[in-house]
Amino acid sequence: MKVIATVAELRATLKAERQKGKAIGLVPTMGYLHIGHMELVRRAKSATDVAVVSIFVNPTQFGPNEDLSTYPRDMDGDLAKLKAEGVDYVFTPEVAEIYRPGAHTIVDNLVLSRILIGKIRPGHFRGVTTVVTKLFNIVQPDQAFFGEKDYQQLTIIRRMVDDLNMPIDIIGVPTVREADGLACSSRNAMLTAADRKAAVILSRSLAKAEEMVAQGQRSVPAIRNAVRGILESEKRGTIESVDIRDAKTLDPVSGKFRQPVVILLIVRFGKVRLIDQRVIG
Ligand code: PAJ
Repeated sequence: MKVIATVAELRATLKAERQKGKAIGLVPTMGYLHIGHMELVRRAKSATDVAVVSIFVNPTQFGPNEDLSTYPRDMDGDLAKLKAEGVDYVFTPEVAEIYRPGAHTIVDNLVLSRILIGKIRPGHFRGVTTVVTKLFNIVQPDQAFFGEKDYQQLTIIRRMVDDLNMPIDIIGVPTVREADGLACSSRNAMLTAADRKAAVILSRSLAKAEEMVAQGQRSVPAIRNAVRGILESEKRGTIESVDIRDAKTLDPVSGKFRQPVVILLIVRFGKVRLIDQRVIG
C-alpha cells in the first residue's frame, strides 16, 4: 500500500496503472474509518483492479459553527485498517494541496443541495460536490463508491455525474450497522454513553415503517406519524426532520405512494446530529 499526499504524484502513479489497462476504484472518505467505510473499500477491491481511498476532512463542507475542528481523526489507525484490507493507494492531501488560493469555480446542485440536510446545513452539499469533482478529476476512477447512509449525498452525486457527463459509475453501498441497529458513523464516537444507547431509536422507527409497508400500508401521513411517535418516545433525542420522499428524485410525496420512497431521519442527541434512512415500497 502506498500513501500519497500530492496531486502530481497520485496522477503520475495512476496514469501508469491506467496504461496497464487497470480499472480504478475510488472510495472518498473523511477518515476515522469504521466498518461502514471498510465495506465500501471491500466493494472497491472486488469490483476494480486498483483501489484508491482518499482521506480528506474537507473544510468547505463544514459551516462556520460546525464540527470541523473537533471532527475525529486517526490517520495511523486508518492506514493500518486500509493496509489490512489490501488497498493499493491512499490519498492523504493537506488542505492547501486541494484548495489553492484564488479559486473561482465551484460545483453546486441548484435544487437538491437546498433541501433536507441542505436546508439545515447551507453550503454543505456545495462543498461535497466541489471536493468530489476535484477527487474525480485527480483520480479519474472508473467506479466510485458511496454509502446509502448519506442518501441525499449519494443522490446528489448521481445527479452530478449525470448532469455533467462524468464518465464514472457511481456504486451505492447499503448502510452498515452496529449490532443494535445504529448506523455506523464517525459521529457516534461523539455521543455520551446514554445517548449512544438511546440512538437505537432511529433504526427502530425505520423498522416499524418497514413493517407497516409489509402489511400493506401506503399512506405517507400514517407512516410519518408512526415514525415520529416512536422517535418522540425517546426524550434524549430532538427530532430535526422526518421526511418521506421519492427514492430516486427526492421529490416530496403525499397521500398514498406507489413508487419506492425513502424515509429520511435527522435526530440530534446533544450537539451530535445523526441521520438514517430506509428505502421502502
Ligand atoms: P465520510 O462521512 O467519511 O463517509 C465516507 C463514505 O462512507 C460516504 O460515502 C458514506 O456514505 C459512507 N458511509 C459512512 N457510514 C456508512 C455506513 N454505516 N454504511 C455504509 N457506508 C457508510 O461522506 C463523506 O465522508 C464526505 O462527504 C465525502 C464524500 C468524503 C466528501 O468529502
